[in-house]
Amino acid sequence: MIDFSTTFKGKKVLITGGLGFIGSNLAHRLLDLDAEILLLDALIPGQGGNLFNVSDIKDRVRVNISNVCDLNSLSHLVSGQDYIFDLAGSANHQDSIGDPFADLEINCRSHLTLLEACRRVNPDARIVFTSNRNQYGRLTQTPVNEQHPRLPVEPNGIHNITAEYYYLLYNYIHGLRTTSLRLTNTYGPRHLMQHHKQGVASWFIRLVSDNREVYIFGDGKQIRDLNYVDDVLDAMLLTAATEDTVGEVYNLGGSPICLADLVRKLIEMTGTGGYKLVPYPDQLKITEIGNYVADYSKIKNQLGWEPKISLHDGLRRTIAFYERYKQHYW
Ligand SMILES: NC(=O)c1ccc[n+]([C@@H]2O[C@H](COP(=O)([O-])OP(=O)(O)OC[C@H]3O[C@@H](n4cnc5c(N)ncnc54)[C@H](O)[C@@H]3O)[C@@H](O)[C@H]2O)c1
Repeated sequence: MIDFSTTFKGKKVLITGGLGFIGSNLAHRLLDLDAEILLLDALIPGQGGNLFNVSDIKDRVRVNISNVCDLNSLSHLVSGQDYIFDLAGSANHQDSIGDPFADLEINCRSHLTLLEACRRVNPDARIVFTSNRNQYGRLTQTPVNEQHPRLPVEPNGIHNITAEYYYLLYNYIHGLRTTSLRLTNTYGPRHLMQHHKQGVASWFIRLVSDNREVYIFGDGKQIRDLNYVDDVLDAMLLTAATEDTVGEVYNLGGSPICLADLVRKLIEMTGTGGYKLVPYPDQLKITEIGNYVADYSKIKNQLGWEPKISLHDGLRRTIAFYERYKQHYW
């Protein structure tokens, strides 16, 4: 087993999207491992960037408010970094249909810019990219392994595929040390909870906590595969610390559950909220993917990663966090 404390101790780490949900949780974890951390974030409106996410560690990390798409400033920021976790992006599927150009910028050009900056000034950095299960789009088989056909149902999926290919290409032609993790629905503390676009689990947690009724589209039997954020961080650190993963892609996954069962569980845990099954709105019917269950045996077999936090424990920790810090996220 890798001893993270020696791997990251004293190392320079850049986290793009570092004020967002996963990025800020990663910053906390890496700080515990004595890494020297630089957080880059453009605080894009409607996305999860939130200064409160790092308020307790603000004196121990450096924060740079800038856009990854600015090659000049980025080249300065990537210089000298040992590890780069590229989390600047958006998993907002629906918005990518309304504004595909904005999505192209955030989820594709940004990553190409990061790779170009590294190629020019820091080709030795170890780079981990967080991609998205929405590359697979409409599902033809389940569980979904990395070879599943990629049939995106919105521009966000296409931009994710393209960005991931850039990571693999820059490894192939320039020797950059890149790896892509295909994340599924991730939930936990420090997520944006103001609207439904950041993820179904977090949004349902908010509605139930507010004692509101959750409208579930269709029969509620659609399955999503959830990961608690700490398990995702484990996968990211393990990947970054293992040279064999360079040039590879891996699925993450762990707790498949149908949406109706998820809501029933939340209602039971909080003692509040309710739910109602409602017909699928037409514009969402077309982008429904089917039941998503990840096959994460590749990373399990190669690195021994598997989620450690049960769905119950993850939800319990998440509900407790927002009960305490609600005013910063609602
Ligand atoms: N949370 C999930 O369930 C999930 C699932 C699959 C993939 N992902 C991917 O993981 C990454 C992190 O997700 P998250 O949930 O932490 O999102 P988040 O919205 O909480 O954080 C993303 C951060 O990136 C910043 N950002 C976006 N574009 C930027 C740019 N061009 N320059 C600088 N900063 C920029 C935003 O301001 C935001 O703070 C994203 O790329 C997302 O697509 C997340």
